[in-house]
Amino acid sequence: MFNRVAILGAGSWGLGIAHVTVNAGLSATIWEYDPQEFEILRHQRTIPGKLPDFRLPDSVAVTNSLSRALKDAELVLLAVPAQTLRSVMVELGPLLPPEVGIVNLAKGIEVATLRRMSEIIIELRRDPAAAVATISGPSHAEEVVRDMPTTVVVAGQPDDFVEAVQECFSTPTFRIYKSHDLIGVELGGSLKNIIAISAGIAAGLGLGDNTLGALITRGLAEITRLGVAMGASPETFAGLSGIGDLVTTCASRHSRNRFVGEAIGRGESLQQVLDNMKMVAEGVQTTRSGYQLSRKFQVEMPITRQVHDVLFEGKEPSEAVGDLMVRSLKEEVWQ
Ligand SMILES: NC(=O)c1ccc[n+]([C@@H]2O[C@H](COP(=O)([O-])OP(=O)(O)OC[C@H]3O[C@@H](n4cnc5c(N)ncnc54)[C@H](O)[C@@H]3O)[C@@H](O)[C@H]2O)c1
Repeated sequence: MFNRVAILGAGSWGLGIAHVTVNAGLSATIWEYDPQEFEILRHQRTIPGKLPDFRLPDSVAVTNSLSRALKDAELVLLAVPAQTLRSVMVELGPLLPPEVGIVNLAKGIEVATLRRMSEIIIELRRDPAAAVATISGPSHAEEVVRDMPTTVVVAGQPDDFVEAVQECFSTPTFRIYKSHDLIGVELGGSLKNIIAISAGIAAGLGLGDNTLGALITRGLAEITRLGVAMGASPETFAGLSGIGDLVTTCASRHSRNRFVGEAIGRGESLQQVLDNMKMVAEGVQTTRSGYQLSRKFQVEMPITRQVHDVLFEGKEPSEAVGDLMVRSLKEEVWQ
């Protein structure tokens, strides 16, 4: 069991998980690398524009020193964007004793290597048996900090580490399920953001609920196809990190990925949208990695492909929708 926890990254989810940590009766230190954000958080106990109306509990120590954050930590929670996780792991390596476990909270796949977050952590811990887990599932920080009932799933290795994470962080409003399928949990949580962008594009084009239902259902089918090809269990995608997170993200006003898609559907360029965003929209980079994975594993992922072409190849959103509809006709369930 853990008492002292280091949270790395004081973004929206870092602050959200700090709230859960305090509710669970654990002591936490939160580390923020950005000097300006750190100063704001230290003085105001919140970061305006990230989680409005949220104030970090007084018991949570705030630091910009990684070594101070990790001193005496019994567990590390990584709440940084997926594409930066490797650099944080490199810095953290010499400072963290090998027996301290790491929980990844990011939802993404490294573009340069197509590795999942736990794979990067294990690689940089230089120990295939290192204690590592990922928490995923429908958990918008905006609602978590208001104690709205939330359910997530944890998967990782070894079993007793995963069970300890499940027990330590579960509270009456934050319920954690356990899964044995780390690959499926990580892929589900990451790839759903591509489909959320497509749902946003459809909304931005003025399309309706039929289209949303189609994207969610067919999106789940292509995520499952890739997941199974990569070694995941198909049932995982019927769970919290699959359909649970997919539906929530595609329909939510809190989703930044859906927001990006909506702006693009209305005619803005990707660059314009990203220039005006303060927080990370993981789905943009995950579209690159998801598309590359579909090619590598030779899995057909039509929605991912169209989102990729709209974001990075200048394809018109309405043309992408049209192309999805006139593909060759298929069985509903196919491999
Ligand atoms: N926001 C949510 O509700 C939520 C819920 C579940 C999972 N997540 C996942 O958590 C991850 C973080 O999301 P977020 O919403 O907190 O994003 P955010 O943009 O609000 O915060 C990102 C944090 O990472 C820090 N950071 C950025 N680059 C860094 C670097 N190079 N080195 C160290 N730190 C760096 C930022 O300063 C900030 O503290 C994402 O993968 C997201 O998908 C978010």
